[in-house]
Amino acid sequence: MANASGLFTPSVPSLRLRGRIQTPIGIYRTGFLSPEGFSLMVFCSNPAQGSDKLASGSGASSSESRAPRLVSQGCKLVGCGSAVPTLKVSNDDLAKIVDTSDEWISVRTGIRNRRVLSGKESLTTLAVEAGRKALQMAQVDPDDVDLVLMCTSTPEDLFGSAPQIQKALGCKSNPLAYDITAACSGFVLGLVSAACHIRGAGFQNVLVIGADALSQYVDWTDRGTCILFGDAAGAVLVQACDSEEDGLFGFDLNSDGDGQRHLNATIKENEMDNALGSNGSVLDFPPKRPSYSCIKMNGKEVFRFAVRSVPQSIESALEKAGLPGSSIDWLLLHQANQRIIDAVATRLEVPPERVISNLANYGNTSAASIPLALDEAVRSGKVKAGHTIAAAGFGAGLTWGSAIVRWR
Ligand code: ACO
Repeated sequence: MANASGLFTPSVPSLRLRGRIQTPIGIYRTGFLSPEGFSLMVFCSNPAQGSDKLASGSGASSSESRAPRLVSQGCKLVGCGSAVPTLKVSNDDLAKIVDTSDEWISVRTGIRNRRVLSGKESLTTLAVEAGRKALQMAQVDPDDVDLVLMCTSTPEDLFGSAPQIQKALGCKSNPLAYDITAACSGFVLGLVSAACHIRGAGFQNVLVIGADALSQYVDWTDRGTCILFGDAAGAVLVQACDSEEDGLFGFDLNSDGDGQRHLNATIKENEMDNALGSNGSVLDFPPKRPSYSCIKMNGKEVFRFAVRSVPQSIESALEKAGLPGSSIDWLLLHQANQRIIDAVATRLEVPPERVISNLANYGNTSAASIPLALDEAVRSGKVKAGHTIAAAGFGAGLTWGSAIVRWR
């Protein structure tokens, strides 16, 4: 089986090769090194140790803060958690504000309810709750987290929400925390990024959170989009392990900026072309503060894109993993539309009883949908240790990708 034997990334500044590498190295899109199973002795700075020294102003040289580390480790999923807002909005509730019906929504999408942030709830508090539950399940102390990845397209701070989550979780060692913006593919990208940090930079515990509040960017008068989305957060703790135990078997990631015209929430155009006249003179300064338009979507095109691209992506990830489709215990897709899930499952010949779906209760929760559905499936006993999951995200960007992973 193709497996991870540690990914060496020359661009990581804190890594330095020791000695000559005799074997040719290839960094593949899958994140696998070839040939398999070799190890690299590197100097790798400990993120926590480095920050302590900075904080104490010890003035230690960079070589003193580096310890030799064998970067040839694997990674595995060891904990998960999720959180949803309290306000439940049913299809009948929506039928009171737009021209729609429970029947139309449930037949065309499979969605019956969604959760929407209200009152004092915030995306950050949901993300923190999901992250805390994942840490508890993994029995990992917040102080032992090396990295928090917040996958979201709706951060509460333009500069990113992850450091606020890191702070609220009580990670006292000041681990790195940053956001990943990739809409409904965000969580899969976060998962693969976590693996790269573990395999290539010696990180031990990476908390990947997928969280979105698209209710804040929906036009609640547009029945074509407002029926689809809900708010939520889900999290997974990815942990370093022996390379033989590696639980990310293969992945496939893609994007197509050309398809952005079918799904976007861009800065309003009339707020952008105000600053310069044709001869370069300043017409309007200072510039107006821009705002984002509501989500605009060509549902039919996005539907076609998903049904075409997702099976291809999963097949590609399986091929890179060297696994047959029959090895999938669970198909776990981004929860956008039950008809998309069914079509992909049929194409991949995965029977309905091996497909995870909780879309009826939450709608499309963007980057949260995969970890939210995983958490429910794990806690209900459906997904068990050792099971192989084919997970795939797709959405705005356009972006799409899949990962073949083992649970624990
Ligand atoms: N209630 C009643 N009628 C409706 C509604 C509604 N909520 N919405 C649309 N209609 C009407 C339309 O006006 C149209 O009427 P017409 O025939 O008189 O013109 C008719 O229903 C059919 O509309 P379509 O848009 O063709 O309906 P479709 O079967 O394509 O379903 C849907 C629409 C559910 C949006 C579907 O296209 C879809 O799920 N697409 C994929 C969306 C998706 O997966 N997005 C994921 C990414 S999200 C992200 O990344 C942020």
